[in-house]
Amino acid sequence: MAEINALTAASAEEVEQIRIKYLSKKGAIPAMMNDFRSVPAEQKREVGQKLNELKTLANERLAALRDTLASQAEAAQADIDLTRTATPLPLGTRHPLSLVKNEIFRIFGSMGFTIAEGPEIEDDWHVFSSLNFPPDHPARDMQDTFFISRSPQDILLRTHTSSVQTRTMETQKPPIRIICPGRVYRNEAISARAHCFFHQVEGLYIDRNVSFADLKQCLLYFAREMFGPDTRIRLRPSYFPFTEPSAEMDISCHICGGKGCPFCKGTGWVEILGCGMVDPNVLEACGIDSKEYTGYAFGMGIERITNLKYRVKDLRMFSENDVRFLHQFDAAH
Ligand code: DAH
Repeated sequence: MAEINALTAASAEEVEQIRIKYLSKKGAIPAMMNDFRSVPAEQKREVGQKLNELKTLANERLAALRDTLASQAEAAQADIDLTRTATPLPLGTRHPLSLVKNEIFRIFGSMGFTIAEGPEIEDDWHVFSSLNFPPDHPARDMQDTFFISRSPQDILLRTHTSSVQTRTMETQKPPIRIICPGRVYRNEAISARAHCFFHQVEGLYIDRNVSFADLKQCLLYFAREMFGPDTRIRLRPSYFPFTEPSAEMDISCHICGGKGCPFCKGTGWVEILGCGMVDPNVLEACGIDSKEYTGYAFGMGIERITNLKYRVKDLRMFSENDVRFLHQFDAAH
């Protein structure tokens, strides 16, 4: 009797096991009932009574166990918040910057470029000095820098992904063919057209006999893959400390097809990136023999490419995480 009173069950299956053990045809209680025949006549009354009591107790215990389980399940149900909306949770969408970044990976990947990454917190050497920025050169002012500490050496948030060029050239031997995506930081007032952080992709190709013509062909292929087969490019002479010669590349405005519209300010062209032949000083600073090797580099803003592709007018939208903005890119891919 004590044994039956002490029975517990955590699930309906356990209740059923108890029933089988004690009350099923081959269970313990019917077995005792079967043995009843061999009980001496004078004890039959007492033993019979006890057996019946045992059977009733077992049945009651099972019923109690079932009740407990049922009320536990009910309590668990009561934890469900019935005031919540029945609408299924909406799926997230890929961020437009990720869509464009992945497209950039695909295009350069098909030309044999692999991805290289570096830290966002950098030192002066990787962001400026190794890239041919002399200590007091005005070029450093081109990029307003967030400094983290200034002594014993300058530690800063990288202002461009060109720092990954240095990191790669310091550790790998040519041929090098990489693209380096990443976030960069500049001390700029936040507005529709500028932000204190944004994203760039840097490209670098170093080998024997790499020429400006190779650079131009690579960038033309990129522009046509990204903006359509009718896209034209033009290179304008420019200045960057780490490339010589340097250029800025425009693509024919894909909104008016080059005829001139408000978007391209009537010129028919929009600027998309900076590029050039890696300055021999940079190769030497990274331990690469500039007599044996040449190379080209380019750098572009992912926000800029995304703006052109999807006509996003306000840079701030990229970091506000407003789902009404983000969902608009659903259909695009
Ligand atoms: N680092 C430059 C910037 O942030 C972009 C750039 C220009 C990268 C020319 C290059 C390059 O590799 O060759 O404005």
